[in-house]
Amino acid sequence: MEVERDQHKPPLSLQNNKIPSSQNFPVVDLSNTNGELVARKVAKASEEWGIFQVVNHGIPTELIRRLHKVDTQFFELPESKKEAVAKPANSKEIQGYEMDDVQGRRSHIFHNLYPSSSVNYAFWPKNPPEYREVTEEFAKHAKQLAEEILGLLSEGAGYLMKINYYRPCPEPDWVMGIKAHTDFNGLTLLIPIEIFGLQVFKEDRWLDVDYIYPAVIIIIGDQIMKMSNGRYNNVLHRALMDKKKTRMSSVVHIKPPYDMVVKPFPELTSGDNPPKFEPLTYQDYIDIEVPKLSRLIKN
Ligand code: SIN
Ligand code: FE2
Repeated sequence: MEVERDQHKPPLSLQNNKIPSSQNFPVVDLSNTNGELVARKVAKASEEWGIFQVVNHGIPTELIRRLHKVDTQFFELPESKKEAVAKPANSKEIQGYEMDDVQGRRSHIFHNLYPSSSVNYAFWPKNPPEYREVTEEFAKHAKQLAEEILGLLSEGAGYLMKINYYRPCPEPDWVMGIKAHTDFNGLTLLIPIEIFGLQVFKEDRWLDVDYIYPAVIIIIGDQIMKMSNGRYNNVLHRALMDKKKTRMSSVVHIKPPYDMVVKPFPELTSGDNPPKFEPLTYQDYIDIEVPKLSRLIKN
């Protein structure tokens, strides 16, 4: 079969993506009772990397295992079964199952998770039957964790579940799972399963994330970068495919209310540090940025 190739030169695997020994991918231990120290570590990691992982985060490992199991079971259903929760064609609806390329290697499903008024179970897999129970249990924990990290920022936020599924790809050097992008929402929680191909762009290089299962990866998105007046880094990241193995990531995107005007916090700006971003509602930001992003990701 003709393999679709992304325009990346040189081939991805020829680059050295190991994090240099002089730097460590940040790990924040949430069981530390020194709240000020934890807050300082989160701020430092958000400034220097825009991505970090939290351990002892309170989400039971058994629940993460069950989440990955139901997510895998859904994607392993025949296509005809997954179509039951397909994204409606020719619609602005983002929820639903969708195949991302013609060769059938990349697919994902989106459905709202929180608040409950935004949840439409028509887009939640009915198969496996435990999907809803496990995902709802996970949603409670994800919300607690996000609030712990966001503090006041998460007031009124909405949560969107995304599960990415990448089949083995014969030419992972040439085909990207998800192309380089920043997350346009506020904050992202990401739990990959087994094979991990997440890379971040730092100091002009792509670096492999050093992931410690079952840590939760936290990604600073565009809205928090703007609220911090550019202090926190909206990290550029991408995901590679694997030659032999299927990879999957379970993701929660935390987003401001659509009508919220996002702008730098006045407390974080001053005469020396004037606001770098114009106030813009989250909806307007999406209308401007998402069409560019989907071109970037789907090509
Ligand atoms: C993403 O950035 O949305 C997905 C990353 C991954 O699959 O690990
Ligand atoms: Fe992302």
